[in-house]
Amino acid sequence: MKAFVYERYGPPERLRMAEVDQPVPDAGQVLVRVLAASVNAADWHVLRGRPLFSRATLGLLRPKHQILGGDIAGRIAAVGGEVTGFKAGDEVYANLLDHGYGGFAEYAAAPVGVVSMKPASLSFEEAAAVPMAAVTALQGLRHHGELRPGQQVLINGGTGGVGSFAVQLAKASGAEVTAVTSTGNLELVRSLGADQVVDYTTTDVARAGRRYDLILDTVGNRSVPDLKRALVPGGKAAVTGFTRVRRLLAVSLRGGKDVAQVQAHVTREDLEQLSALIEAGKVRPQIDRRYRFAELPAAIAYLEQGRARAKVVVEVG
Ligand SMILES: NC(=O)c1ccc[n+]([C@@H]2O[C@H](COP(=O)([O-])OP(=O)(O)OC[C@H]3O[C@@H](n4cnc5c(N)ncnc54)[C@H](OP(=O)(O)O)[C@@H]3O)[C@@H](O)[C@H]2O)c1
Repeated sequence: MKAFVYERYGPPERLRMAEVDQPVPDAGQVLVRVLAASVNAADWHVLRGRPLFSRATLGLLRPKHQILGGDIAGRIAAVGGEVTGFKAGDEVYANLLDHGYGGFAEYAAAPVGVVSMKPASLSFEEAAAVPMAAVTALQGLRHHGELRPGQQVLINGGTGGVGSFAVQLAKASGAEVTAVTSTGNLELVRSLGADQVVDYTTTDVARAGRRYDLILDTVGNRSVPDLKRALVPGGKAAVTGFTRVRRLLAVSLRGGKDVAQVQAHVTREDLEQLSALIEAGKVRPQIDRRYRFAELPAAIAYLEQGRARAKVVVEVG
């Protein structure tokens, strides 16, 4: 099969298309003929081996996993001996981030715990846009407890991969949503359902006077004091984004219970919850750009610029 491989940490140009062996699914895995993938910030972090401390798990000198790629959608080609609930031909979507990656390939083996039936109303490209970003938004929003209707929720970074889902998910819970983005994206974030918008190029949301019950910081560029300043007494913040190691440490060391760093882990249960919201018309993936498989390095390079308007997808089939 064709796959993008890399042998050394570096920029997207390090990726090269190669002919490699098709994976063989374990007893608890399904083999997916990948028809679409989406790119996530994790892909370029892992590709570059950044931040450096991540190499302790990714491989100290060279990457342990040579095929990257977390989010996939496609058709099941074969199932492992112990798999129930899936059969060859099923249309599915999945995330491989906690399971050795491998999505930037024509075939990928995925444990059934991170696989769900694809929402019928979505194309394969749209479905591939969902797992990592939407589950991160979902788990970030509920980290401190389920959202309640009428709560004031602030989404920092409302037009990114994670933020574009977070705005829709918070609205679907009945919250009143304020989203932070730049001037050119204000209309987009309104179209996703934001009740109020804040243009970060003209307004510092932490000093604009309004207070929130919950802040989801999908960018990770705000200090702990700034986040606390924008919360009502008893309000909570969840930080899923990452800009600098210094900020990450500050949230972990100084955030306390109310300001938490959240690391998402995709599960089938959460994918199924998202499928239900998608089929109910409450959530819809937003695609910024589509790339062909051969253009994968360009897709990752575009995402790395940090200006993507929601999701960037790659057609593999
Ligand atoms: N914790 C986890 O489990 C987890 C999971 C997934 C992702 N992440 C992390 O979360 C972060 C975001 O991921 P993503 O997929 O959403 O990234 P992304 O799609 O690359 O985010 C791009 C978006 O960020 C917005 N943005 C950039 N600077 C901003 C600022 N100062 N204020 C508000 N918005 C700003 C951009 O809007 P403008 O063009 O308008 O600036 C753009 O729409 C990354 O650091 C990623 O590593 C963490």
